Amino acid sequence: MEYSNLIKEAVKARENSYSPYSNFKVGAAVLGKSGKVYTGANIENASYGASICAERVACTRAIFEGEKEILAVAIVGSKEGALCYPCGICRQFLCEFGNPDIVLSKSGEVDKILKLSELIPNSFTSSDMD
Ligand code: THU
Repeated sequence: MEYSNLIKEAVKARENSYSPYSNFKVGAAVLGKSGKVYTGANIENASYGASICAERVACTRAIFEGEKEILAVAIVGSKEGALCYPCGICRQFLCEFGNPDIVLSKSGEVDKILKLSELIPNSFTSSDMD
């Protein structure tokens, strides 16, 4: 799949953000190994710590639907002209399912692509417990 389409899916998903506390909307679109795309948006909670980021919503949907590996994650925030990097918890969460391309946009087009491993080097994974 073209990453520009993945960004477009993330932009669409951002509309479903539930973020009355931060008013910061985030959309994410995950490309699974099967070729299917799964979307998510951040969902906040009155107990702030119970909030969940867009990336984890999208990733959880993908794994629940049977995906074993994630190839790419597109992320868009709602601060105009700014990239939205995944938070530390999401970086760790995503490591469980591969080393996806992290695709970021501040313009509606693909502006930056990194490997997850660049954002979380030497991450702790299941192989560390073998
Ligand atoms: N957020 C995400 O959904 N993804 C990120 O990569 C960064 C932060 C959300 C969490 C919270 O709902 C809001 O953005 C402000 O932190």
